[in-house]
Amino acid sequence: AFNLKNRSLLTLRDYTPREIGFLLKLAADLKTAKYAGTEVPRLQGKDIALIFEKDSTRTRVGFEVAAYDQGARVTYLGPTGNHMGHKESVKDTARVLGRIYDAIEYRGFGQEIVADLAKYSGVPVYNGLTNEFHPTQILADFLTMQEHIEKPLHKVSYVFIGDAANNMGDSLLIGGAKMGMDVRLCAPKECWPTQAIQDEAQALAKETGARIMISEDIDAAVKGVDFVYTDVWVSMGEPKEKWAERIKLLMPYQVNAELIAKTGNPRVRFMHCLPAFHNAETTVGAEIEAEFDISAMEVTEEVFESPASIVFDQAENRLHTIKAVLVATLGA
Ligand code: CP
Ligand code: NVA
Repeated sequence: AFNLKNRSLLTLRDYTPREIGFLLKLAADLKTAKYAGTEVPRLQGKDIALIFEKDSTRTRVGFEVAAYDQGARVTYLGPTGNHMGHKESVKDTARVLGRIYDAIEYRGFGQEIVADLAKYSGVPVYNGLTNEFHPTQILADFLTMQEHIEKPLHKVSYVFIGDAANNMGDSLLIGGAKMGMDVRLCAPKECWPTQAIQDEAQALAKETGARIMISEDIDAAVKGVDFVYTDVWVSMGEPKEKWAERIKLLMPYQVNAELIAKTGNPRVRFMHCLPAFHNAETTVGAEIEAEFDISAMEVTEEVFESPASIVFDQAENRLHTIKAVLVATLGA
């Protein structure tokens, strides 16, 4: 019923709500088949280029193992060791890769780069994270939500709290608006998505019945939600100097036991796209360290390690959802 052959995934805008629903169902089926040992390879003979201009654990292994499970081959092109973007233009690189590969994944900087790869390569291109969007993550998140709650997606509520101006804020806003969900972004105004993204989400909500709240008010935004979602306060590619400013701005929005209690939902779940900063080491300057306890940042160890935390289900589902995208767009 759904023919997604040769389609790119640059943002979730590229797919209708029903097509997204189809990809989630396909991902769930592929997951069941892998567990049962009955997976049928549909990507035999396909070659996929994986371009990573930024670091990755989940997205890289997700694409690699999805491809191998399905009989495809991959080539990893890292931040160094190839010419793209310095010695050779994106346009020329796209045309070269398009002659040799059946599809291209790109993780890196501006959204225009992934768009140009799609425009000039002539093969499906998948956005593995840009400054603006992270669509394959959202597919994994929605599958994970479905696995943890007995209601259809359009009845599910979630709050994304913290730096809502990053790729995750944008993508969770657009994705939830698309699927008709109860979507809340909770952040200081400085960390809200652009007005253009907000307007786009509101327009989508009119069509889908989504409820959208973008607020600085923590109590109102977390009340009654099914899922509390956060992400790092400084994203890849942003200058380290941002840490001081963001810690001051975002410490009140930290996901800790008190914030979880404020949801009033004893079955609330905690989500994070990972990597999490909760237990990482960093130097943010003596002045900040004197004023703030930075042993935890966007989430405390207590919440991250609690039974409410479903972050590793999300991580696993990167594999199954990426595989669904590959099979739907390239599969025989
Ligand atoms: N969530 C996510 O995209 O993780 P990686 O950066 O490890 O790919
Ligand atoms: N916002 C984070 C997401 C990582 C998966 C970043 O861009 O670094």
